[in-house]
Amino acid sequence: MSKAPYKRILLKLSGEALAGQQGQGINPQVIQQIAQDVALAHKAGFQLGIVIGGGNIFRGVSASAQGMDRASSDYMGMLATVINALALQDALEKENVPTRVQSAIAMAEIAEPYIRRKAIRHLEKGRIVIFGAGTGNPFFTTDTAASLRAMEINAEIIMKATKVDGIYDMDPKKHPEAKKFTTISYMDVLNRGLQVMDSTAISLCMDHKLPILTFDLMKKGNILRAAQGETIGTLVQ
Ligand code: GTP
Repeated sequence: MSKAPYKRILLKLSGEALAGQQGQGINPQVIQQIAQDVALAHKAGFQLGIVIGGGNIFRGVSASAQGMDRASSDYMGMLATVINALALQDALEKENVPTRVQSAIAMAEIAEPYIRRKAIRHLEKGRIVIFGAGTGNPFFTTDTAASLRAMEINAEIIMKATKVDGIYDMDPKKHPEAKKFTTISYMDVLNRGLQVMDSTAISLCMDHKLPILTFDLMKKGNILRAAQGETIGTLVQ
C-alpha cells in the first residue's frame, strides 16, 4: 500500500477533455490515455470514485443561455454524463480495472442505481465506482456532484483533473505574467471569483474541510503523482 496521504480519492474528470482536439464527442485515444492513467493509480492501491462531466456531449448551462428550459437542459447534461461514464467503464475494463457505474437517475437496464453503502463496498473490494447522472437534480453541476459523492464515500480529497495545470490569479492565456498558486484557501477562491468549481461545490467542500486538488489531466502519470501527494497543480484547503 502506498504511503501517500490519501487512501480514498474522488476524481473529478472533465467531460470536455474526452473530446481531445476534435472539440466534442469522445476521442478514443484520449479516453484510452485517461483510462491508463487512472489504472496506474488503481494498481498503486488507491481507492477511486470518479465523477465525470458531460460537456463534450451537451452543456446544460449553454443550452439554457440560448433559451432552453434550464431544468430540461440540465437533465440532458446528466444523460451526457452517463454516456461518458459508460465509455470510461469500457476503457477502464480494457485496462483490466474492475469498474461499476452507478447512476443518480434510475435506469436499471444500463447502470446500477446510486446506493451509497454499495458504492463503498465496491471501493473496499478494489473496484472503481463511476458516478453518473450528477446528483440527479437540475441546477447542480457535476462539480457539486463530485463534492457530494466525495463526502458520502468518505473520500479524503477531491482531485479535479482538467485541461488547466492549476489555479492562476489571472487567465494565463491572456496574461503571460499570471501567477499559479500552489495552495489557496476556499475563501480566496470564492472572493476572487476564481473558476475552479462553482460556488456551491466550493462551499460544500469548505464546510466539510474537504481539500480540492486541481491539476492537468493530459500530462501522463499525473493522476498517480497527485494521489501520491506530489506537489502538482493547486491545492484548495
Ligand atoms: P458483489 O457481488 O456485491 O461484490 O458486487 P457485484 O457488483 O459484483 O455484484 P452484483 O451482482 O450486484 O452485480 C453484478 C454486475 O451487475 C455488476 O457489473 C453490476 O454493475 C451489475 N449490476 C448490478 N445491479 C445492477 C442494476 O441495477 N442495473 C444494471 N444495469 N446493472 C447492475
